[in-house]
Amino acid sequence: MTLTIAIDGPAAAGKGTLSRQIAEEYGFHHLDTGLTYRATAKALLDAGLPLDDEAVAERMALEVELSGLDRSILSAHAIGEAASKIAVMPAVRRALVEAQRAFSKKEPGTVLDGRDIGTVVCPDAAVKLYVTASPEVRAKRRFDEIVGNGAVADYAAIFDDVKKRDERDMGRADSPLRPADDAHLLDTSEMSIEAAFQAAKSLIDAALIKKI
Ligand code: DC
Repeated sequence: MTLTIAIDGPAAAGKGTLSRQIAEEYGFHHLDTGLTYRATAKALLDAGLPLDDEAVAERMALEVELSGLDRSILSAHAIGEAASKIAVMPAVRRALVEAQRAFSKKEPGTVLDGRDIGTVVCPDAAVKLYVTASPEVRAKRRFDEIVGNGAVADYAAIFDDVKKRDERDMGRADSPLRPADDAHLLDTSEMSIEAAFQAAKSLIDAALIKKI
């Protein structure tokens, strides 16, 4: 039996780092589903195709290879913006969700992170976490990350961007970002990465013990 851990939450809440650490801890496969939306968006941008044609975007989504997703290439700001736009299209979501579901069945277990894992992609996941932090904290983390990489960052612009991304992710009609009814909420606003990992591990261990 495969065990799936679903991790959802808004942009820059720390889901990525947490999911990678959890996957390593339990020896599970990890999929950052945001990368599937980003890869679709990048394929459209690279081909000079429009971001508002659902049939064209669906064709690109059907060609996304989960094994070839590279965060260092896909993390660019413009790709994230484009991904958020095509993520509102039901045909794109259908194509990517099918690939994500197939991934979630890998043995011995999987960790998927995104926006709709606990609600749509893996509603039967063994454990669901909804990881969040205040918009101010998320913007500050992104700001620190950019500055830490030696680049120049504008906090006000980043904060504005975080708010806009939230509105788009939470406001869309198809699979909006929201905690599943049975998700455990984890607010990392006041937590270090290590503290968030320990809190997540306690929630997961407690939930897994109940399942066994
Ligand atoms: O987590 P991220 O920034 O890499 O995600 C990029 C965009 O993809 C985000 O704005 C919303 C979308 N997304 C989604 O709609 N559903 C998911 N499961 C993951 C990401």
